[in-house]
Amino acid sequence: MGNVLQLDHPLAAHHLSVLRDVNTPSVTFRATVQRLSMLLAVHATRDLPLQTKRIRTPLVEHDAQELAVSVAIVPILRAGLSMVEPVLQLLPDAEVRHLGMYRDEATAQPVEYYSKLPPNHCTDVGLILDPMLATGGSIRAAVGALKRWGVKDIRVLSLIAAPEGILLLHQDAPEVKLFVASVDERLDGNKFIVPGLGDAGDRIFNTSH
Ligand code: PRP
Repeated sequence: MGNVLQLDHPLAAHHLSVLRDVNTPSVTFRATVQRLSMLLAVHATRDLPLQTKRIRTPLVEHDAQELAVSVAIVPILRAGLSMVEPVLQLLPDAEVRHLGMYRDEATAQPVEYYSKLPPNHCTDVGLILDPMLATGGSIRAAVGALKRWGVKDIRVLSLIAAPEGILLLHQDAPEVKLFVASVDERLDGNKFIVPGLGDAGDRIFNTSH
């Protein structure tokens, strides 16, 4: 389906099962989100451009390589916060720009409550982080915010996505690449992803009860 790249790795399948299990406690859930996020980040950055940089090793002059682009990591609060640290481990020079958004429980529409993307400064690549893409409303709003900010290369990292949300994103922004661990079956009547993993934010921050 469109610009969707799904992780094809036994570790991804294994860690995803841990997340899906209703008996997985919050502490394990959080750590597992981080493991999967790192796998996703490796996948989502494999075609970033490089440039040559002349350096001196302890032995000789050498044409080394370094990233040729600046990267912003853009977590959607709250649940996306849990994905920041593993992605930063791989991209230590990236900047982190938070977007606050929650899904209204009655309408399933995204409500934006925080955004501070500075004017006159923008990065080459924007990595949007959110464990779940359900209806796609939240990711669509985040993509819109990054487009208005001026980011040309926007990529989305989600652990699980519903076909309905993928379609919405594809119709709205076909150029945006989506990296997921799983494309799940569908949304249920409450717009929850099935089989899914429940409410990622609640399970990460131990606020389910
Ligand atoms: C969840 C999830 C996404 C959004 C997905 O957030 O983390 O941000 O819903 O739904 P959508 O694709 O239909 O927009 P939630 O509203 O639970 O907020 P939280 O992260 O603060 O828990």
